Amino acid sequence: MINKENPIGLFDSGIGGLSVLKQFIKFLPNENYIYLGDTARVPYGNKSVATVKRYAAECTEFLLSKNVKLIVIACNTVSSVAIDDVIAISDVPVIGMITPAATAAIRATRNGKIGVIGTRATIESDAYSKAIYSFYDNDLDDDSLISSSESKEFNIKNITVYNKACPLFVPLVEEGLINHRATKLIAQDYLENLKTEGIDTLVLGCTHYPLLAQLFTDLMPNVNLIDSGEHSAVAAIRLLGEKNLLNADSDSLIKKPSVKFFVTDIPSTFNEIANMFLNFDISKPEIVSFGN
Ligand code: DGL
Repeated sequence: MINKENPIGLFDSGIGGLSVLKQFIKFLPNENYIYLGDTARVPYGNKSVATVKRYAAECTEFLLSKNVKLIVIACNTVSSVAIDDVIAISDVPVIGMITPAATAAIRATRNGKIGVIGTRATIESDAYSKAIYSFYDNDLDDDSLISSSESKEFNIKNITVYNKACPLFVPLVEEGLINHRATKLIAQDYLENLKTEGIDTLVLGCTHYPLLAQLFTDLMPNVNLIDSGEHSAVAAIRLLGEKNLLNADSDSLIKKPSVKFFVTDIPSTFNEIANMFLNFDISKPEIVSFGN
């Protein structure tokens, strides 16, 4: 039996998923949360699909053992290669990063040229392109995706997705080099082709990239940035609402976010990085261990 008061469980390869948690707290402030960061095994983005699937299953089992009412795969890499495995072992609903951001990108584009950036594993999986092309083909006239007034106003004839793996952004963000000239140079190089192609919408297909949003806007003014965490939070409101599982009590005052943190390791930079992502202090995380 799933109760409204049960927590929402989010997991990520590490600390980056806090950018997703931040969006959930913003859109669903009255929920209780459990966040699991697999900090001992991060990064997942350059690991094999088989390994990411195995890690994802372990994280999922852990959250299920905490009686979560919803599992949020707060990691684009896991969402790209292992969402079916997570769904297969979960008896609660699962939300990943791909579908909400893919539909948001289709809604946002005006010229049909969508860029997607992510880790190597995310880009090699082609998960975003497949989702965007399949939704666009099937549902262009579907009101749930693009309202009829929008589709009349913006009669997009074609959608083309341009992918680019940007593996250096994760370590640059984790080193706190967000405003560093080296990051700017690397971003210019990574984004050059997308810019030349004339994309008008860019999917930030990695937990760390929202922290570089200002840099992307400086390099590509007028390009819509799609934050996968934000759109997954909006999808969660809808899903929990449909299932009558929203904990939001309109009479209650918005309280301090209720989050229990679990990690598989506490690296020396943990607090610094967590603060950068979340802007509030994490209560001492509990260490858990799985496999190896
Ligand atoms: N959380 C990962 C993602 O969103 C980035 C870090 C990693 O490679 O594990 O793809």
